Amino acid sequence: MNKLAINGGEPIIKDGIIDLWQDIKNSDIEKISDYLRKEPISVIDGGILKEFEELFAKFIGTKYAVAYCNGTAALHAASFACGANNSSNFLLSEYSYHGTVNSLLENSSKAYLCNYDENTLDIDVDHAEKILDNKTKGMIITHCWGNPVDMDKIKRLKDKYNLKIISDASHAHGARWNGKNIGSLDCEDIACFSLGKNKLISAGELGIAVTNDSQLYDELLFIGHPNRVPEALITDKYKSFINGVGNKYRPHPLSMVLAIEQIKRYDVKREFNISTNKYLSEKIGKIAGFKNIEIYNKAERVFWKLLIRLNDKYWEGINIEKIVKALEKEGVRLEQFHNYNVKAHEQIWKHDRYKGLVENKSTMGEPKNIIILPGYIQLTKQQMDLIIKCFEKVSYYKEELY
Ligand SMILES: Cc1ncc(COP(=O)(O)O)c(C=O)c1O
Repeated sequence: MNKLAINGGEPIIKDGIIDLWQDIKNSDIEKISDYLRKEPISVIDGGILKEFEELFAKFIGTKYAVAYCNGTAALHAASFACGANNSSNFLLSEYSYHGTVNSLLENSSKAYLCNYDENTLDIDVDHAEKILDNKTKGMIITHCWGNPVDMDKIKRLKDKYNLKIISDASHAHGARWNGKNIGSLDCEDIACFSLGKNKLISAGELGIAVTNDSQLYDELLFIGHPNRVPEALITDKYKSFINGVGNKYRPHPLSMVLAIEQIKRYDVKREFNISTNKYLSEKIGKIAGFKNIEIYNKAERVFWKLLIRLNDKYWEGINIEKIVKALEKEGVRLEQFHNYNVKAHEQIWKHDRYKGLVENKSTMGEPKNIIILPGYIQLTKQQMDLIIKCFEKVSYYKEELY
């Protein structure tokens, strides 16, 4: 008799698993109502905008922060600030979010796609060094799924070739390298965070860029915050301008109200997120057929999502879709729909607006052996053990999948 639920057996998880952590509390709803009663619903400068930017800069450990309507806008502004233009190229991994590439193209800069490390899923810095040339102005490095890039190698490359480094920390709120928050390291010129849909700090739609450099801060304002220029500028470069560029990337006050409350309790959420996903990944990674994503020694990662790799040899002859289905039928919630292969967007780069700007120098291709679980925050031990049992069962009865 077949055992796996995909073949009619009894599933392990029957009622689904609900994360015990709630991002929006009743007290947040009170704060929103209170704000609506008393405060303006659009803020150019000061007020809630100042409060949010200052709090976020403090949270990460930088001097400055500039808020935007989303993370995509933050990346566009950061690319501009770091000198992306029609005589530059920037390096980035083919395995990242397509908006990172577009932030360069929207500044008429070339984007060189390089390899990723299949063990960490982060940029392969050695390959990046091989493909850079004398027009390479910088890199955008995505800390994929909350797993920090090798920042020692990034620093070496930055110093050797005088590169600008933009961290895309959209998945990595509170991830650390050598004890310091990602976003606050000396080798990062600007770090961008999405606080959009379901991110670890999520306000629905919101983004922010942080920096320690006053000139970069001014560039960030100039490209995305008309009406804060020239008053809010620190340096002289744009002081004679009566306004910034017309990209109005101003965030909505209500998203900032939500984000502020979430930042205040993020330490607790971060601890739950790390302990829950460490437990799951350490156990699942020991089951035949499954492997963990590797983490650099100096990194302390967070888990926007929990990714597990398949050991291809173990599953020879069985395709990943079948394994995914089998796990889902046992009751595991998977999120295979996340598409982090920027090459999947090739069609867009052939559009007249962007033609010739993306150079694919990667020799890899989409990773084909990745299972994506939600980045759970707070589960009971019993819930975690049920998830682990599903993986054990599918591994044990793999013969049923041929
Ligand atoms: C790695 C990465 N960077 C940037 C973004 C863009 O952020 P937003 O959706 O807030 O525009 C996302 C969105 O998911 C992302 O995953």
